[in-house]
Amino acid sequence: MHRMSTHVGSGQDLAPQVIVIFGARGDLARRKLFPGLYHLAAAGRMPREYAVIGSGRHAPASVEDFRSSIRGAIAESVDRVDASVLDDLIARVSFRESSAKDGADLATAVRAAEAKLGQDACRLLYLAVPPTAMDGIVEMLGREGIADRARLVVEKPFGRDLTSSRELDRTLKSVVSEEQVFRIDHFIGKEAVQNILALRFANRLFETVWDRHSIESVQIDVPETLSLEGRAAFYEGTGCLRDMISTHLCQLLGFVASDRPDELDTHGLRSAKVSTFKALRAFDPERTVFGQYDGYRDEEGVDPDSTVETFVALEAWIDNDRWQGVPFHLRTGKSLAEGRRTITLRFLPPGHEIFSESACPHEIILELTDDPVVKVDVRGKRPGPALTVAPATLRLDYAEDFSADHALEAYERLLLDVMRGDQMLFSHSEEVDLLWQACQPLLDSPPATKSYEPGSWGPDAALDLPSGGWHLSGH
Ligand code: BG6
Repeated sequence: MHRMSTHVGSGQDLAPQVIVIFGARGDLARRKLFPGLYHLAAAGRMPREYAVIGSGRHAPASVEDFRSSIRGAIAESVDRVDASVLDDLIARVSFRESSAKDGADLATAVRAAEAKLGQDACRLLYLAVPPTAMDGIVEMLGREGIADRARLVVEKPFGRDLTSSRELDRTLKSVVSEEQVFRIDHFIGKEAVQNILALRFANRLFETVWDRHSIESVQIDVPETLSLEGRAAFYEGTGCLRDMISTHLCQLLGFVASDRPDELDTHGLRSAKVSTFKALRAFDPERTVFGQYDGYRDEEGVDPDSTVETFVALEAWIDNDRWQGVPFHLRTGKSLAEGRRTITLRFLPPGHEIFSESACPHEIILELTDDPVVKVDVRGKRPGPALTVAPATLRLDYAEDFSADHALEAYERLLLDVMRGDQMLFSHSEEVDLLWQACQPLLDSPPATKSYEPGSWGPDAALDLPSGGWHLSGH
C-alpha cells in the first residue's frame, strides 16, 4: 500500500532526467521552478544525471544571459544560496527556442542531452504556458517526437472552459497516454493539504464527525493581499474563477469532502475525488458574487474597460449522502484584507443542549499555512463555582510538533513526484472535466462584476452569502 510520506529517498535512486521547461523565462519558472530545482539539488534529491533545457518563443541574447537570469531568480527566492550547488545546477542549464510551429532545434537538443545521459534517461516536459498556447505546443511535441516516452507536466488552468478543456484533452491523448500526463495544481503539493488526508483518515476522532450529521457548513476561504504582481497579461485572459476556483479551491473541496480512498494511491485518491466531483452541483450564478478591486483597470496591461473578476465567492452543494444539505462556501480574491488559506468546518449544535451558553463557536479550523495549524474550537468548563462553559481551543501546531527538516515546498514535492513517475497528487482528466462542468454556468451567465475597495473583504454582496456571514478564526 502507498504510504503518505515526505521522507522520500535521495535523488540517487532516480533515473537520469532531461527536463524541458516551456515558458522558462516566465514568472512561474523564475519564482518557483528554478528555485524548486535548486532546493531539490541542495537537499540531494535530484538525480545524479540531469539536464535542464529552457524553452520558449523568445530566446535570450545568449545562453550565458539566460543562466545569469536564472542565478538572479534563485538568489531572489533562496535565503542562503550554496554556491557549489548553484554552480552545478546552472552548468546543466541551456536554452532552445521553440514554438507551436517549430520545435526542430529543441528536438535535436533533447536527443543530444539523452545521448549524453544514457538511453534510460526520462523526459520531463514542463508546460508552464497559458491555456491558449497549450494545444499548439502539445501538437508540436507530438510532431517532433519529443513527447515520445515523456512525462508531460501541464499547468493549470486546463483549458478555458468545458469545450476547450475537452479539446486540450483530445490533443493530449492524441500525443501521449493519460499515464504520461501530470496535471499540476500546486495546492495539492502543499504539506497542509496532504495533512487533510492524514487528519481525516489516520484519526477516528475526525472522520466520525465529518458529515452532514455533525457538520452544519464548510468554508474554504483563500483571500489574498497580493494584487497582479505584474501578471496582467495572464490575469486578463484568465480571471479569478479559472485561476483559483476551478482548480485550487475545488481541489481543496475534493480533499475535504471526498470519502476515504480505498487505497492511498493514484487510483484510490483520484477515484474518491471523482465521485465527489460527480456529486458537486453546478455552481449557481444567483449564489455567486464576482468582484473587481478598484484600481484594477488602471494596472499596467489591463484593459481600461475590463470586467475580469479578481474576486469570487460562491455557494456549493454536494448532493451525496455524506454532504446533502451542507453548504460549502468558497471565497478568494486579490487585494483583500488578509492573506489566508483557511478551511472551517462548523459543527451543528449538540443534539441535546444542557448548557445555556450555546452561542460559542464550535469548529474545526484548518490553517493551510506552510507550517499547518489545526484548531478545534470547543467548549470547556469555565473555572469557578458554576457549571457553565466557555470557548477553548485544541491545537495542533506543525512548527512545534514536527521537525520541518523533511518538508518540501509544493512545487518541489510535485517536481520530485514527476521524476518518480508518481501521479497520485496530480489531477485525472475526469476530475478536470467534472470541475469545468460545475463552473460552466458561471462562464455562460457570469454574475455582474461588482467593485470593491482594495484591502476590504470584497463586494458587500459577498459578505452575507453564508447565512450568518463568514467565520474566519481570529476575527
Ligand atoms: C497561483 C495563482 O496558481 O496560485 C496565483 O495563479 C495565486 O494567482 C497563487 O496568487 C497562490 O498560491 P500560493 O501558494 O502562493 O498561495
